[in-house]
Amino acid sequence: MAMRFTDDFIDRLRDSNDIESVISSYIELRRRGRNLVGLCPFHNEKTPSFTVYPETASYYCFGCGAGGDVIGFIRNIENLDYVEAVKFLADRAGIKMPDANYDDTTANLRRRIYEANREAARFFHETLFTEQGKAQLEYLQRRNVSPKMIKHFGLGAAPDDWHALENHLTAKGFKRSELIAANLLRYSEKNGKKYFYDAFRAKVMYPVIDLRGNVVAFGGRVLDNSKPKYINTSDTLVYKKSNELFALNFAKNGNDRKIILCEGYMDVIALHGAGFENAVAGLGTALTPEQVSLISRYADEVALCYDSDEAGQKAVRAALALFSKTGVRAKVIRLSGGKDPDEIIRVHGKEMFAKLLNSADNDTEYKLSVLREKYVVETADGKMNFLREASKYLATTDALERDIYAMKLADELQVSKDAILNQIKDAARKERYNKSKTQLSEAQKQVQNIEKAIDPQRLKNMRIAKAEDTILITLLNNAGFYKSLKDKLQSDLFFTPVNKQLFSVISSRIEGGERVDISHLSQFLTNEETSAVAKLLANQSLVSNTMQECEDCIIVLQEEQKKRLVQNPSQMSDDSFLELFSSLNKDV
Ligand code: GTP
Ligand code: MN
Repeated sequence: MAMRFTDDFIDRLRDSNDIESVISSYIELRRRGRNLVGLCPFHNEKTPSFTVYPETASYYCFGCGAGGDVIGFIRNIENLDYVEAVKFLADRAGIKMPDANYDDTTANLRRRIYEANREAARFFHETLFTEQGKAQLEYLQRRNVSPKMIKHFGLGAAPDDWHALENHLTAKGFKRSELIAANLLRYSEKNGKKYFYDAFRAKVMYPVIDLRGNVVAFGGRVLDNSKPKYINTSDTLVYKKSNELFALNFAKNGNDRKIILCEGYMDVIALHGAGFENAVAGLGTALTPEQVSLISRYADEVALCYDSDEAGQKAVRAALALFSKTGVRAKVIRLSGGKDPDEIIRVHGKEMFAKLLNSADNDTEYKLSVLREKYVVETADGKMNFLREASKYLATTDALERDIYAMKLADELQVSKDAILNQIKDAARKERYNKSKTQLSEAQKQVQNIEKAIDPQRLKNMRIAKAEDTILITLLNNAGFYKSLKDKLQSDLFFTPVNKQLFSVISSRIEGGERVDISHLSQFLTNEETSAVAKLLANQSLVSNTMQECEDCIIVLQEEQKKRLVQNPSQMSDDSFLELFSSLNKDV
């Protein structure tokens, strides 16, 4: 990154983008003492471990280790680079960007991709009503897509031509390199020469629009039964298919916090056409944790609407597992009378779909019916095994649900309700015991895995890491201490890589008389390093912030350094070798 923003600019940006209100516009925060907590938007969880610290203008998640300042938050949640996140916040607060010479090549290319996509969407849509789009329009009409829905979704036609879009967009001033970065143009190479061609030819086009209204990708469907049925934009600078949902830009506007999740573009279009404007679909991948997280931002209830075939049911089970880690209630729609919502609406009308939606099984109902199919409940053995498994499942639900289903099962299987409730209680006791064991170790494992990935040296050297942490926190809070400690704080005293890097940035800023708030540091740090600073700030109550404590920690680091050097003297610099040599001689 060529440029740096001035501290004053960063201060203004931070002060006019209060971290609490910025983060609140993405997730719900509750006050807890001086801080705020909420469900982490960067991993799926049911109990909040995501904490916002207004005093230090930072956030940190104890579940997944994500952390940073307000700029870092925007960087992560909007998937932007540093300069783009700064621009985003400057826009939000109506602050003018400084005319510095910052490196904005990525930001510029991203903007060009958005523009190319928008222009392409317009071109495809207009083509639909010309001779070159006749077959595509007829295809959509044959599938009962109304003119209103064609317009609403901006559907279009890619002509049966290798260069139609390329010619159109280059005439508008787009470079081929930009179109390739947008995935709209492809090329093959022969004898060192590149041959360019349009990525989408002879297709019905479905633009994918993100939450801010940008066209980010396209799905293109063939007009016959040839394979592959769809060509989709692969990931680009502006698009990560695992992080997007088709039609969420419309569905998010509903006000009952319910979403219907189905499989295909066509299902979504048919559902919106029939008035179910809260339908969304994945983009040709299995449901991802990121998509689940996204849905949990806009819905408390999701109705899963997958094909009734084996593959669809497998997808349902996977989706239920993902949603069970969030606060979103999942229901499963049983599609009878058609293979997908598109077909049901076309053949039986929207009333039929409404009925199926209303009678959708909740999570429990679905689980029980899957279990019921596993056992022959007409036999005593089958009945017993089914009840045992059912109780195990019901043990994970709340008291009301247990009561309702105990009653239902008692009725259905001619067993006493109390017997079932007792069985559930037993199972719950076991479950609680197992859970408390696994939960604890899992949480520990998760945080450790993250730490291992970011900084493998840290876990192996906890004594060192803790002493380094203490010195860093103390310096962040008391830059003035640096002057007196400076002589003892040579940079090779710090050993774990992330802390070593943090120390180098922090100390050089203090020496230069510059401030060391997290938002001043973050432009010099990677995402992981910024998270590490946020973690230090989140744990600052653990240190006493005294010079004495720092000096004790320095002694620990010196001891450890000595040990390292004795083990591996070849890595020593001449200076430290002499120093070590004389100190060893002193000891004897
Ligand atoms: P229709 O057959 O036109 O009704 O399409 P559909 O939207 O109902 O699609 P379907 O249910 O067959 O598939 C679900 C989704 O998976 C589609 O919307 C695409 O996103 C994706 N998909 C299906 N077939 C392909 C394929 O051949 N290639 C890729 N990349 N994605 C596909
Ligand atoms: Mn379909």
